[in-house]
Amino acid sequence: MVTRESPAAHLQIVRTREALREALARAPRPVGLVPTMGWLHAGHRALIARAHAETATTVVSIFVNPRQFGDPADLAKYPRNEARDVAICAEEGADLVFAPSVEEVYPPGFDTSVRVGEVAQPLEGAARPGHFDGVATVVAILFDLVGAERAYFGQKDAQQLLVIRQMARDLAIPTEVIAHPTVREPDGLAMSSRNVHLSPAERAAAPAIRRALLAARECWQNGERSADILRDRMRAELSEEPLAEPDYVSVADATTLRELKTIDGPTLVSMAVRFGATRLIDNELLD
Ligand code: PAF
Repeated sequence: MVTRESPAAHLQIVRTREALREALARAPRPVGLVPTMGWLHAGHRALIARAHAETATTVVSIFVNPRQFGDPADLAKYPRNEARDVAICAEEGADLVFAPSVEEVYPPGFDTSVRVGEVAQPLEGAARPGHFDGVATVVAILFDLVGAERAYFGQKDAQQLLVIRQMARDLAIPTEVIAHPTVREPDGLAMSSRNVHLSPAERAAAPAIRRALLAARECWQNGERSADILRDRMRAELSEEPLAEPDYVSVADATTLRELKTIDGPTLVSMAVRFGATRLIDNELLD
């Protein structure tokens, strides 16, 4: 067992690539990285706490990545509070916060994009063109700068996890990509930085997503193997909630994300649903 001084006492904030490299040069290994866009919630807390428990140095990056937002209005309204985020990092045992500017991550003249193939195309990839190019590009930069042994991501963004795993494998980046279970509110709503935008009525309606996913799981547990029947079951459940406007409802192979006719292996059941102006995603792995 490693004994450490109070984590808050030594939490260091760095803002440049150079300062990050310097801090990491003397950091005990293994290093765990938790990439975030800030506005940390209980889901991030769980990732940081896990990294702290499993590695000797925990690095949290806080960077609202402009390249993964298609809509400038969405980027502009992304919630930010660095002081609060840093306090949460300290509470959960992080050792280092990397909070760079946009110019530090993408210096003048930056002209490279990492584009992942098939697994990045459907679902969120289709709904948000360019989104996963932005995610893969920034995560590749972070993986390279931090050189962590392990990096932690939430299962809520299941497609993002697949995209990052593919990118790391293809670019021979040795960082192990770890998926952590989705953290939920008591009523089942997945924790998300976007939940803050829900009106009280939309917030009350949003657990319909979880009910629909659990209805699909129940169907499957009862032996149903027709993907269409699961999709219909989820749409029927969502239609009970007048404020829920489904964007997509998917029953796909859990590795390739190809839509299925028949369920005969690990399956990702997922959906994106709008509540007013807020679009939420969630999923359930049937394995
Ligand atoms: O999941 C997120 O918060 C972001 O997509 C990530 C992985 C930090 C990349 O900007």
